[in-house]
Amino acid sequence: MNVLPRGVRHMPGWFTTDAQRALVEDIRAVVAAAPLYRPVMPRTEKPFSVRMTNCGALGWVSDKAGYRYQPLHPVTGEPWPPIPPALMELWRTVANYEAEPEACLVNFYEDKAKMGLHQDRDEADLKAPVVSVSLGDECLFRVGENTRGGRTTSIRLMSGDVVVLGGEGRLAFHGVDRIYPSTSALLKKGGRINLTLRRVTKP
Ligand code: SIN
Ligand code: FE2
Repeated sequence: MNVLPRGVRHMPGWFTTDAQRALVEDIRAVVAAAPLYRPVMPRTEKPFSVRMTNCGALGWVSDKAGYRYQPLHPVTGEPWPPIPPALMELWRTVANYEAEPEACLVNFYEDKAKMGLHQDRDEADLKAPVVSVSLGDECLFRVGENTRGGRTTSIRLMSGDVVVLGGEGRLAFHGVDRIYPSTSALLKKGGRINLTLRRVTKP
């Protein structure tokens, strides 16, 4: 049995298959307005293996200059579309936080994509949790302590699962080691979508 770090909650099967399908439609509409693009790492300009977009008043971006939140899509220059109601509802149910989320990062993983261990620490209010939704193919998610190089635990995340990083787990290092291709029929062309809701500014 894997023991998750304190403050890290895994809720398997939070969304029913129908709710997952509805979320995919919501995300299709987001991507139609705010296309997925491939960010690059600060300084090195190495491209990410995931493609990204956002919805909400603010979106998380990475480019040569660094990581930050901004109100406009870096490629189209347009505001990000609003966060779909089902995700606002999820936040109200699980976040245990006084204010609404401002950002929803949309990550799209193809078969070989992954995400290195990192902390989510570009937000001004670390009292708000990060709420994450998995859709589509399964992945191996790794989560550890609040310091780099600490012990880590790996869990398999499936379509419809929700993970909350909050409280003592808010700054837990986490990442995605691999995608398990063709493990879900939700997305016609395969791959994995991860949605992370964040509060960015102090209310
Ligand atoms: C992230 O940390 O931004 C993504 C985590 C995930 O894909 O599950
Ligand atoms: Fe993250």
